[in-house]
Amino acid sequence: MPDTIRITEVGLRDGLQNQPVAVPLEGKLMLLEALIEAGLRHVELTSFVRPDAVPQLADAGRFVEAAIHQGLTARLDDCMALVPNMKGYERAHAAGVRSVALVLAVSETLNVRNINMTLEQATVVCEAVTRRAADDGVRVRVYLAAAMGCPFDGPSSPARVHALAARMINVGAEVIAVADTIGAGHPADVPLLFEPLVRAYGEKRIAAHFHDTRGLGSALAWQAALSGVRQFDASIGGLGGCPFAPGASGNVATEDLAFVFEQAGFETGIDLDRLLGVLDTVERLLGVRHQGRVTPWLVTQRKKRDTRASSTATLSS
Ligand code: COA
Ligand code: ZN
Repeated sequence: MPDTIRITEVGLRDGLQNQPVAVPLEGKLMLLEALIEAGLRHVELTSFVRPDAVPQLADAGRFVEAAIHQGLTARLDDCMALVPNMKGYERAHAAGVRSVALVLAVSETLNVRNINMTLEQATVVCEAVTRRAADDGVRVRVYLAAAMGCPFDGPSSPARVHALAARMINVGAEVIAVADTIGAGHPADVPLLFEPLVRAYGEKRIAAHFHDTRGLGSALAWQAALSGVRQFDASIGGLGGCPFAPGASGNVATEDLAFVFEQAGFETGIDLDRLLGVLDTVERLLGVRHQGRVTPWLVTQRKKRDTRASSTATLSS
């Protein structure tokens, strides 16, 4: 049986939170459905943060309710929502969310800028929300943000990432998503960061979240796979970035990761042709073309294939 890679689509949250235009609710539902049609089964839907902090996601509750109502969430294996604190958790839970992603930056300053808490305050809040979620039967993933570097405090220490991961696992977090929030990482730094985590907790509990700021997203992900990681976040068309972390560009593109891993013989469950079609939906919604690094090449290959198929059909008719 081929080895599988789980790709979690974060474009609806990490992607849309940073766009100059707010996509209307119907557009978000259309995008979610298109992603499901392309084979994505793990999706981060939105975030329950202060609506004035991230107006693009101010419709979080209504979006989740509509996605449930339309039967879209039932087609997913995991659909999570980011929550920054207990209030966000309660809003998400009330909307019907059964899987939450908490955010804890490993640096002091990013916690303050992002969620207005010190590192220790944020850690305590994450612990409290994790315990509460366990009582409610809600699954918890914890993003350890700025794990490879902080825009304010500089490089991050793997030892601190490991210590925070242990603390969150101890209170019941199911998955630790190690996030290179601003794309500061170098592939050579990946083994030291990821190998001890995979060894300690197993591949089911560790995810990698890379941004493509320096064009290294795929290289980072490939190196992480060599370090034993099997769960990756990615964003359709490479949308993304954090409004509170200057210098962050988009996430590594879903099509780039699907291509890299499928070519290497892993199974992702993603239909690349359909995924290319989702890019057209994104373009219609945002008015701008977004695409991964491999996309122009994939589109050319598809055109050549279509031309060959239509000339074969003409010859045989
Ligand atoms: N959702 C909606 N409203 C919230 C909220 C949440 N999750 N958390 C707090 N609030 C409201 C409070 O009810 C309070 O409202 P009031 O003034 O009407 O009483 C107000 O916000 C202030 O509450 P406080 O607990 O002091 O929060 P804060 O102002 O320190 O903000 C965050 C903290 C985390 C909510 C805010 O910094 C935030 O939303 N950050 C966005 C982070 C983000 O999305 N980053 C990108 C992804 S990592
Ligand atoms: Zn991110």
